[in-house]
Amino acid sequence: MPQADSHKVVFLVGFMGAGKTSVGRSLSRRLGWDFEDLDDRIQARARRPITEIFRDLGESEFRRLENAALRELLSEPGVGPRIVALGGGAFAQPENAALLERAGAPVIFLDGPAEELFRRCQQEQRERPLLRDAKQFHQLYEQRRASYLKAACRIDTAGKDVDGVAAEVACRIGLE
Ligand code: S3P
Repeated sequence: MPQADSHKVVFLVGFMGAGKTSVGRSLSRRLGWDFEDLDDRIQARARRPITEIFRDLGESEFRRLENAALRELLSEPGVGPRIVALGGGAFAQPENAALLERAGAPVIFLDGPAEELFRRCQQEQRERPLLRDAKQFHQLYEQRRASYLKAACRIDTAGKDVDGVAAEVACRIGLE
């Protein structure tokens, strides 16, 4: 497991509802590091929300924008230490996983049972283009799990609160 302080950027990956953004914010407060959600960068570059990118341009264009945003982020020199949350599909794209591997940054997979992730997404009431019904959610989860498991570190979030998971991440990457 690469130690975070030698890289100063830590990536959180996992399925929708895994808590990447909320854990990322909690972890950034804890460490005094910046936080970035890659989806925010995509929306800023495309000048429209994720839902509209999917609706107007389609998923393949979203994936192209996502890959471009990740490349841009990785190429920024001299920025301070930060936690980066990736959207649920990003690490399941082999070219993105390869970029992160080349960068040598710690990648943390926030895991959890599909039922719990689905429940969390429903409670959030945030519009997600790839969140349809429970059956489709479970299928996509199964399709992607093997990709997430390639991350250097897996943390089970089942039944845990956000700050507890953030503390676990900090410990596993050697920062506490
Ligand atoms: C996606 C998850 C979303 C967002 C986009 C695609 C996915 O992010 O990137 O809607 O493919 O699973 P969250 O995981 O933060 O919901």
